[in-house]
Amino acid sequence: MVLTIMLVQPAGGQDAEAIKLPAPARKGTLSVPEAFAVRRTVRGFAARPLSLAQISQLLWGADGTSDPRGLRTSPSAGATYPLDLYLVVGERGALDLAAGVYHYLVAEHALQPVAPGDLRPAVVRACLNQAWMAAAPVLVVITGEYRRCTGRYGQRGVRYTHMEAGNVSQNLFLAAEDLGLGAGIVGAFEDEALARALKLPPGREPLLVMPVGYKH
Ligand SMILES: Cc1cc2nc3c(=O)[nH]c(=O)nc-3n(C[C@H](O)[C@H](O)[C@H](O)COP(=O)(O)O)c2cc1C
Repeated sequence: MVLTIMLVQPAGGQDAEAIKLPAPARKGTLSVPEAFAVRRTVRGFAARPLSLAQISQLLWGADGTSDPRGLRTSPSAGATYPLDLYLVVGERGALDLAAGVYHYLVAEHALQPVAPGDLRPAVVRACLNQAWMAAAPVLVVITGEYRRCTGRYGQRGVRYTHMEAGNVSQNLFLAAEDLGLGAGIVGAFEDEALARALKLPPGREPLLVMPVGYKH
């Protein structure tokens, strides 16, 4: 029960041990066309926490590893992988996971605690006070580090990074629907305020915020 020991850990600082996520399922409940047909931007969420298995499935579906060569569920220009995912967990937002900000470690399929506490209010403020977002038990933030892609493609890498955020967001939408959940998508925010709220390292830009939870 290694998992149990790791789960009781609060979301400490960057030094805290990473929390391994359960293996994602390769079979879902909806067919791909069924998921296409039901996907909507959801802006109303029930006060119901997500399980670690659901969080695992959402993050893996969005941009997890799907191939021993390190290739992922979302395509990437030249496999440069300029994106990172951050999970903002609200108070009682997830079973067995303390409120806080976590960085998704793709290769390890694990969550690295970044900052403790319920930071949804700060994220919502940065998102021009879109109050509906605060009801979501978790928020997934897609960030981009342009230099990983511009290093190979020059300025065009900026365009590719933005395209990739679109790929990841659609994957996350469909993964949420497959789990019987709903996701929203937010591109209206103050970049610096959001980066500060999430304690993003320099060079990592927030691109999209996706509230996820049970539909209200
Ligand atoms: C790049 C992007 C940014 C968006 N930003 C916001 C936002 O800040 N707030 C919001 O409520 N919806 C936002 N939306 C959601 C759109 O309003 C929504 O996708 C559109 O109304 C179509 O509805 P549907 O997604 O349910 O099909 C955004 C969508 C995209 C693709």
